[in-house]
Amino acid sequence: MKVATKFALAFVASGLLSVVVYSSVAASREVDQLETTVAEDLASLGRTLSTSILAVWERDGEARALELVAVHDRDDAIDVRWTWLDVDNNHSFSPRGGVSVIPSLLRGEQRTWVGVTSDGKRHVYAYVPLLRPGMRPAALEFSRPLIKESQVFWSEVREQLLMSTIVAAFAATVALVLTSWIVSRPLARVAEQARRIGKGELAYKLPVTGSDEVAALIEEQNAMCDALMAARTRAEEEASKRLTALEQLRHADRLRTVGTLSSGIAHELGTPLNVIAMRAKMIATGEVDATEAPENAKIIVSQTERVTKIVRQLLDFARRRTPKRAEADLGELAERTSQLLSALAKKSRVDVKVALEGRVKLRIDVTQIEQAITNLVINGIHAMPDGGQLLIKVREDDAAPERAPELIRRCAIVEVADTGTGISPENLERIFEPFFTTKGVGIGTGLGLSVTHGIVEDHGGWMTAESTVGVGTRFQLYLPVEA
Ligand SMILES: Nc1ncnc2c1ncn2[C@@H]1O[C@H](COP(=O)(O)OP(=O)(O)OP(=O)(O)O)[C@@H](O)[C@H]1O
Ligand SMILES: [Mg+2]
Repeated sequence: MKVATKFALAFVASGLLSVVVYSSVAASREVDQLETTVAEDLASLGRTLSTSILAVWERDGEARALELVAVHDRDDAIDVRWTWLDVDNNHSFSPRGGVSVIPSLLRGEQRTWVGVTSDGKRHVYAYVPLLRPGMRPAALEFSRPLIKESQVFWSEVREQLLMSTIVAAFAATVALVLTSWIVSRPLARVAEQARRIGKGELAYKLPVTGSDEVAALIEEQNAMCDALMAARTRAEEEASKRLTALEQLRHADRLRTVGTLSSGIAHELGTPLNVIAMRAKMIATGEVDATEAPENAKIIVSQTERVTKIVRQLLDFARRRTPKRAEADLGELAERTSQLLSALAKKSRVDVKVALEGRVKLRIDVTQIEQAITNLVINGIHAMPDGGQLLIKVREDDAAPERAPELIRRCAIVEVADTGTGISPENLERIFEPFFTTKGVGIGTGLGLSVTHGIVEDHGGWMTAESTVGVGTRFQLYLPVEA
């Protein structure tokens, strides 16, 4: 129901209620007044009549006086009766007001009295004494029925209601028009603006007219739009700055990883380059005959392909790319990463193994996840300076992050476990902080794990780390399959 209608209804209801209350009060007052007036009228009639009747009674006797009373009793509205004051209640000439009125009448006083007859009708009685020395005490009784109080009440209510309904209808119409004009229409515009704000249309502003509460509301809502717009711009700027910084961080991290890898790669490239150089020299100096030349050339070609492959992997790794998700086999990715790092592992006498529990396929940014796994594997290798075991496991399972155990989802899980030095509990709390490192200058910058963490979060996942000093460390990356 609209505000204006509510106002109008409340207005009409309170108006009608006050009419009923007022009418009932007015009606009861009117009834009282009516009774008093009727009683006074009867008494005055009685006084006039009693003088002539008393004269007739004295002059012509009782019978003539009673006849005269009967003549006056012909009036329908007013009953006139002769009563004796020396009889008891049951006598046919006793006052209907009861014998209780007799003492005052005997003293010569007039009496009025309101009584209810056996049929429930109210009557006003007036008594005028007829007293003459030596004559039997008598009184004239005048009575007149009263209109029922309820009749007066309802006629009063009807009259008032009619008037008030006309006034209320007029007032309600005026109230309806005014509230709709002053409140409802401007509020509908405010509601429209609120709806648009909800949809993100912050540029939609309402003109402020007047200085009432609605105008104040519009002003506040306009100011809120401005504040929201400013906050949105700030948030967008922050987000874009954060994205740029993150991208730069990842790129820097990749370049550093390339640096770390280069020594291993130099070794990796050295072997095939030596073979190529040696075989080419043998062909050039004629050390091999024409029949052996094709065989040597084949060796040169295969070694060249090996070099090209290593260089391409390195370039792929270092090249910066915008994150792009594509369907990928996580097992294959783990294998590829371990191959890329095999030279580094060999150098530290670390035995890298990949264990796959079924095929795990999902949509990921291959380059980023490769970077994440590489960071974990390099950390593992660094933690085993005297050699050890490094196991990369890939599987799929239902899992939920520790901070929201009810959020169980299907996840691809990459686990990287080593048998290295382990991490102390104090350090374990800090390893995901950017620039936290325990490695010497030039060896570690403390960005690897924070970058890995960021990549996993960008994929809608989370990561965990468990470690025992002297036993080893285990990292797990959880990547929701339906992210
Ligand atoms: N597998 C692990 N075993 C033991 N300690 C580890 C392992 N992984 C990480 N850490 C500890 O966590 C720290 C932070 O690792 P993170 O990869 O973020 O940086 P970093 O390896 O020191 O440097 P960067 O990766 O930037 O070259 C490391 O310095 C090391 O102390
Ligand atoms: Mg690292």
